Amino acid sequence: MTKALEGVRILDMTHVQSGPTCTQLLAWFGADVIKVERPGAGDATRGQLRDIPDVDSLYFTMLNHNKRSVTLNTKHEKGKDIFTRLIKHCDVMVENFAPGAIDRMGFPWERIQEINPRMIYASVKGFGPGPFEDCKVYENVAQCTGGAASTTGVLDGFPMVTGAQIGDSGTGLNLALGVVTALFHREKSGRGQRVTCSMQDGVLNLCRVKLRDQQRLKHGPLKEYPQYPNGEFGDATPRSGNASGGGQPGWIVKCKGWETDPDAYIYVITQAAAFPELAKVIGHADWLEDPEWSTPESRLPKLDKVFEEIEKWTMTKTKYEVMDILNPLNVPCGPIISMKELSEESSLKATGTIVEVDHPERGKYLTVGNPIKLSDSSSDVKRSPLLGEHTDEILAEIGLSNQEILTAKEEKAV
Ligand SMILES: CC(C)(COP(=O)(O)OP(=O)(O)OC[C@H]1O[C@@H](n2cnc3c(N)ncnc32)[C@H](O)[C@@H]1OP(=O)(O)O)[C@@H](O)C(=O)NCCC(=O)NCCS
Repeated sequence: MTKALEGVRILDMTHVQSGPTCTQLLAWFGADVIKVERPGAGDATRGQLRDIPDVDSLYFTMLNHNKRSVTLNTKHEKGKDIFTRLIKHCDVMVENFAPGAIDRMGFPWERIQEINPRMIYASVKGFGPGPFEDCKVYENVAQCTGGAASTTGVLDGFPMVTGAQIGDSGTGLNLALGVVTALFHREKSGRGQRVTCSMQDGVLNLCRVKLRDQQRLKHGPLKEYPQYPNGEFGDATPRSGNASGGGQPGWIVKCKGWETDPDAYIYVITQAAAFPELAKVIGHADWLEDPEWSTPESRLPKLDKVFEEIEKWTMTKTKYEVMDILNPLNVPCGPIISMKELSEESSLKATGTIVEVDHPERGKYLTVGNPIKLSDSSSDVKRSPLLGEHTDEILAEIGLSNQEILTAKEEKAV
């Protein structure tokens, strides 16, 4: 089976997480991703959160599969020359350095277009044009400035970030879509273009329903929020604990073993159509005859009581028993599955969502594979490159002679 992006060459100037997420995805789809790293140092994440001394960290290996690594000092005169050749050689350049860093290397967009008018130049920055455009940004800064932290957390607690990397990996996904869209457009126009994604925009896009609620607030309380009817609403979308963001109320309830197992919980959604079955199974058939409980509207002001009663029942079952009983009744629910359980789940391994990779220095480890499955384009996960592992072969591919490669090395340009 061929790969969808075979033949596309990516000049990968990314580091840390957001940019590497994008280029890893493109590499999984078959693009030839040439990761440019600073000689002797490389992507800083190679050395961050190391679990084994002197071995590339899992942080790095899990974001840089299927790529080739070339070391290159883009501030060295000879390095700039090689970089220019790489720009000519590639279809797409992806970067997520601090604002202005690529310009300071001497390669503003205008210069890149001059070198290669078909080049698609894709960047992640923390912010788009505006008051914060020059700021450096990491994941949690994006979550805080994009509306996620303000709307996440317990009702009366402080703002909270989520463990899902919605700012970094989320924006990397947006960028990948921007790149393939620009490649598609280039088929017709023959021209490259600039693709920019800001992490603040990416997080806000994922917080769309909270901007919806901000506008609904003007017309009265948010009745599905746990603050209703007894709590106060201010003038901004509040944090809502584990309440569902949609029109069907939901909450996390305890299951058997919760006293000792921090993940013995399940999320239950009291979807109106399935409520009669849910009420019966938890021993509350009486609610169905009682106008105080029988309609979604009548239940809204006392959702806390509804979930208390559901919890009395779920506490007598394991989370998987609850799942087994409620799913056939069409009650949507989801056990809180720990990372340990996910890492051991055979069905995720069977689909390539969790993959075991062998690395020459660290040995075998687990990673998350391609979450996008194509029926006619394979996507295998290959180990990340060692620093500069492919320097010689890549320099030869762009036309440097053995002597030129040797000189570039002696001059520490690569
Ligand atoms: C992530 C971030 C905060 C890290 O900041 P940082 O560690 O200080 O790194 P910078 O991006 O400023 O880059 C460091 C320097 O290395 C230089 N550099 C990088 N690769 C190089 C190479 N191959 N050769 C020579 N110099 C290189 C850059 O040009 C820059 O130099 P300059 O400051 O003189 O212009 C910052 O890059 C950023 O805000 N990126 C955009 C948003 C983003 O993607 N954040 C999420 C990260 S997951």
